[in-house]
Amino acid sequence: MVLIILFLIVFSFSFAEEYGYQVFKQYCSSCHIEKTDETTNNLSLKAPPIDVLARQIKYFYRTREGFAEYLENFIKEPSLDKSICKPCIDRWGIMPPVKDISDEEIQSISLWMFKNFR
Ligand code: HEC
Repeated sequence: MVLIILFLIVFSFSFAEEYGYQVFKQYCSSCHIEKTDETTNNLSLKAPPIDVLARQIKYFYRTREGFAEYLENFIKEPSLDKSICKPCIDRWGIMPPVKDISDEEIQSISLWMFKNFR
């Protein structure tokens, strides 16, 4: 019984993360690439890569809750004073707010970002 419950917990966590990745694809990947590697052409980027941002956010907000709160606030209404990357705004201008995204969708992206990039 304990094993079954454990399995369900682990399963639902990985499901939430996988869902977060799908939501990222749907709402964010038109501008943000997921990861940088040696083939990334920095000049062609339309926005900062998500792996770099995730690390930068963690530098300021170390807990999952703090991370999620920052992300939700920024996505709904991006502004200079909420920014954790002022040089990003200097380079690209401020990010447009993401429309028609639900709080649950933002939470799942946040979980995926927090867990996937260390
Ligand atoms: C239309 C293009 C576009 C879309 C769509 C987009 N972004 Fe961005 N995003 C940008 C640009 C450009 C920047 C850099 C400027 C800035 O920081 O505001 C940025 C910056 C960010 C930052 C750093 C903000 C800061 O300065 O603290 C985060 C975090 C972020 N995006 C997350 C997301 C997530 C998550 C999604 C999907 C829900 C998303 N973005 C969708 C263009 C986009």
